[in-house]
Amino acid sequence: MELLGSKVGLRPLDDSDVDDFFKWWNDPEFSGEYAGFEPISRIDVRDLVGKEGWFMIFSRSENRKIGFISYYPVRRDYLNLFEIGYRMKPDERRKGYTTEAARLLVDYLFATKKEIERIESVTDVENIPSQRVLEKNGFKREAELRKRFFNKGEYRNEYMYSLLREEWQKAK
Ligand SMILES: CC(C)(COP(=O)(O)OP(=O)(O)OC[C@H]1O[C@@H](n2cnc3c(N)ncnc32)[C@H](O)[C@@H]1OP(=O)(O)O)[C@@H](O)C(=O)NCCC(=O)NCCS
Repeated sequence: MELLGSKVGLRPLDDSDVDDFFKWWNDPEFSGEYAGFEPISRIDVRDLVGKEGWFMIFSRSENRKIGFISYYPVRRDYLNLFEIGYRMKPDERRKGYTTEAARLLVDYLFATKKEIERIESVTDVENIPSQRVLEKNGFKREAELRKRFFNKGEYRNEYMYSLLREEWQKAK
């Protein structure tokens, strides 16, 4: 399964991505200033291959691997609720790639998971690029979550963003 936009495409992770994932994820520059740096083992990367919700982002012009985007359940009881997250290679940032990747993922989620009414994402209050990605996709900032994260030796506040199905539908 591939999701194709004009600049980027998304496809599930496969075996050929293990080395890149391992190298990128264990580079603090890839996590950036705000997302938190959590080293991962090769075994854990292997477990992500084929796992629901993880996608490689590739550039359509050169079929180059450029970043990751994922969705994961934040609750799974009587409601299905998903959060999305993304990381772009430092040399591929500011080209609009993540904005389009998030649009493709949101379209996919609302189109295929008929039961969901809301998609969430949480960003550090100073993570402007991530906030822009969300805002350009119609997400609304709905709350400031105090001391919800611990990064680089200090507690951090985060913004909760969400996009509702009806807002997504209206914008189509
Ligand atoms: C967040 C991230 C994925 C954005 O990726 P990207 O591909 O550069 O995003 P886009 O090119 O689609 O740009 C998004 C917007 O952010 C803006 N932006 C990007 N970098 C910026 C910066 N350093 N300062 C201010 N604005 C910035 C862009 O200009 C664009 O907004 P605009 O269209 O209004 O100008 C990338 O910065 C990243 O990987 N950061 C580290 C990991 C991370 O923080 N992930 C999110 C955790 S919640």
